[in-house]
Parts: sequence; C-alpha cells; structure tokens
Amino acid sequence: MDKQVKKAVIPAAGLGTRMLPASKACPKEMLPIVDKPAIQYIVEEAVAAGITDILIITNRGKEVMEDHFDHSVELEEMLRRRGKLQQADELAAISHLANLFFIRQKETRGLGHAVLAARSFVGDEPFAVLYGDDVIIGEDPAVGQMIRGYEKYGKGVVGVKQVSQEAIVKYSSLAVEPLENRVFRVTDMVEKPKKEEILSLYSILGRCVLPPNIFDILEKTPNGAGGELQLTDAMKTLARAESMIAVEFTGKRYDMGSKLGFLQANVELALQHPEIGSDFAQYLKDLFV
Ligand code: UTP
Repeated sequence: MDKQVKKAVIPAAGLGTRMLPASKACPKEMLPIVDKPAIQYIVEEAVAAGITDILIITNRGKEVMEDHFDHSVELEEMLRRRGKLQQADELAAISHLANLFFIRQKETRGLGHAVLAARSFVGDEPFAVLYGDDVIIGEDPAVGQMIRGYEKYGKGVVGVKQVSQEAIVKYSSLAVEPLENRVFRVTDMVEKPKKEEILSLYSILGRCVLPPNIFDILEKTPNGAGGELQLTDAMKTLARAESMIAVEFTGKRYDMGSKLGFLQANVELALQHPEIGSDFAQYLKDLFV
C-alpha cells in the first residue's frame, strides 16, 4: 500500500446554522481570526504537513472561498505601487499555497455525504480530511501528526482529544486501547452518544486520515444522527472491521462554527499577534479594572 498522504479534503459546505446571521451570506469558513479567514489557517496546516493537493467542498453561495485563494492581480499591483511590498507578497503567496480544487456538494446531506463528493479527486490513495470549521493552532501541524500515524500503522487515523462528560453527547465517543504515548487503537465509535452509549471521553475533533476503501463503506452507510450521512458512522464500520488509530494531537482547537469558539480564537490569537498583541492585551486589562 502506498502510505504517502499527499491529498486533503476540506468539507466546507455546511449551513453553519450556529453562526447565523453572520453565516447567511458569508461562509462560516471565511470568518476571520483577527485578519485571516479560518479556511486559510486550515489550508496552511495541510501544506505544512506536506499535502500538495487540496479539494475544498463548497456549495451555492460559497464562491468567495475560491476568490480568496485566487490571484488578485489589481490588489497586488496597487499595493506594490504604494510600496507595500510585504503585504503584496503575502497576498500573492495565498494563491500559491497548494494545488487547490473546488467541487460542490449539491445537497447538504451531512459530512459523510460531503466526503463522498471527493471520490474521483482522491482515487485510490489515502487522504486527509480537515473539517472546514475546526482551526487547530500548534507548532506541529495536527494533520501531520495523523499522517505520521498512518505511515507507521497503515490504518485510518482519527485526531482526538478528551472532552467533558457534558460535551461528549454533542460529539463522538470512541472505544480506545493505549498503544504508545498519545496513540490508541480504536475498535468502535458512536456519533452523538446517549449517556448510556458513551465509550470513553475521547472524541474525534476535526481531522482524520482515511484509506480509500472508506468510499465503498460510505456508499453503504445509512443516514444517522440528524438524518444525515455521518462520516463517523462509516469510520465506525472501518474501526470494527480492521481497527483504526487515534492520535491525541497537540495544538489548540477552536470550533469556528460556534460563537464561543469564534470569540476564543479571536481573543487568543489577537493576544499573540505581532502587530496588535500588546495593544490588545492592554485593552483587555483596562476593560477588567
Ligand atoms: P458541522 O456539522 O459543524 O457543520 O460540520 P454545519 O452543519 O454547517 O453546522 P451547524 O450545526 O449548522 O452550525 C463540520 C464541517 O463539515 C462541513 C461543514 O461546512 C463544516 O466545515 N459540512 C457539513 C459539509 O461540508 N456538508 C454537510 O452536509 C455538512
């Protein structure tokens, strides 16, 4: 089996109802953290992990994502004329990050359904999935940690963290056995578990690396929670049949699909921002005296 993971899929076709009305005309994946849209952080993470080809799954009204990664000739020329060379270079670099492709999920029928739209792009190779509203900030790109797990064990890998007893019912819950530091074997999982179905507090958060046979499994998977085709249900079949690997990734995850996650990302990254970090810290101090 070819273990090199060079392709990634970013599902970004959800309706984003938790971020309405902001997400009515602006995709939640385009909401900024300080001065950069969430989706750019995610593409940069994939590129830093060695991914060369990225398919972004969009839908009607999300063309703005395509524009964001396009070359913006007029804007760059104007910046250069005004001597703002660094800004111009930064803009130009966005359009050269990776080979980017776009496809539409024609109906919003769940994350599993969105991933199915990537079948012909992926072909017969392992691939990474980065959920379009989960931004993970860390020194070591989160998806790279999962790719290393795939290369070592030759099995599908999910990125996990422990969540609270109260939160797990909104996420997935995994049956795990420890293998090595921060690495587990996964034999079962359940999406949005009822209290009595909780297998552990380890939950899949925003990243996975999958073998291409996931597509055959997805084709046969019935709709699950919320009447949608759930990627977790297909991964459950894979985990039960041949087991999967869970990597407890380092880095901080922000759920950009929720109001609180959006604000946490903005406050924490603003504090680290080279241009405004110290002014913003002072502002927060003044606010709380
Ligand atoms: P979410 O469940 O967080 O997205 O899916 P959502 O449905 O937009 O959220 P709410 O609950 O209405 O606020 C995780 C990722 O999968 C994508 C979303 O865009 C998000 O990045 N997704 C979800 C799709 O691409 N297609 C779908 O049918 C569902």
